[in-house]
Amino acid sequence: MITTMPALRISGLTKYFGGLRAVDQISFQVEEGELVGLIGPNGCGKTTTFNCISGLLEVTSGSIEVLGKIATGMRPDQIQGLGLTRTFQHTWLWREMTVIENLLVPPRNQFAPNILSALLRPGSRYKENQRVIDAYSTLDLLEMSHMAHNLASELSGGQSKLVDIGRALMSSPRFLLLDEPVAGVAGPLAERIFQNLRTLTSDKGIGMLVIEHNMDFILRRDVDRIIVMDRGRILMEGAPDEIRQSRDVVEAYLGDTGQPQNE
Ligand SMILES: Nc1ncnc2c1ncn2[C@@H]1O[C@H](COP(=O)(O)OP(=O)(O)OP(=O)(O)O)[C@@H](O)[C@H]1O
Ligand SMILES: [Mg+2]
Repeated sequence: MITTMPALRISGLTKYFGGLRAVDQISFQVEEGELVGLIGPNGCGKTTTFNCISGLLEVTSGSIEVLGKIATGMRPDQIQGLGLTRTFQHTWLWREMTVIENLLVPPRNQFAPNILSALLRPGSRYKENQRVIDAYSTLDLLEMSHMAHNLASELSGGQSKLVDIGRALMSSPRFLLLDEPVAGVAGPLAERIFQNLRTLTSDKGIGMLVIEHNMDFILRRDVDRIIVMDRGRILMEGAPDEIRQSRDVVEAYLGDTGQPQNE
């Protein structure tokens, strides 16, 4: 029997904030090259799950494996070192730097000391040039090349989101966590960005877990699976067609019962 190593394996992940059970015993995995959506009503624990996986929050219990290594208890930069990069729901860019300069700075909270020393090391000009070339091709992918020399402070919310995705891609991740990557991005462009993410998963084998608030939007995208959270738990996991037909999922959204349980 051939067993493949999942890119991300979450087992019994639980996170309490005081008495609030924000994430409650969730388990799932994502394979290399898979594009998986994570959806659920407001406050159901999606971002907290990302914060645990990326090492920003200490987990209450459970384990996290990233590309075959136990990541539970590691610092964010160590997890980045395993090949996992994330974006944030609330985008933060260097406002007084241009778009292309923003791409050349490592992602927020994952600024590993070794990246800094690599940037400052003399003789790394070839690498520097290559990074600039990569930055421009990343902007192409996101259809943002025309804004390369604009200041980040001039961007709309949606454009800032795209630059943030670009920054995540610049770290050559093997796994990406994207927190509402196309929120505020106009419909047709958001669709094309999703197509490009799909291409990255299939061509480069990058695994992706993408939080998306708009359920109708993600159910119409070419994703492999969707995981639905509700009140800190996994309500359902399946192909978009299966999710669309689930009464439980529709009720969770309509009832807006996403808030987690208090102990
Ligand atoms: N740092 C924190 N301290 C205390 N409570 C928190 C913290 N972060 C999140 N929470 C709470 O945990 C619960 C889950 O929040 P989380 O941000 O993970 O939800 P979400 O699914 O990402 O929601 P949204 O769709 O609104 O982004 C909410 O009740 C939230 O208020
Ligand atoms: Mg969130």
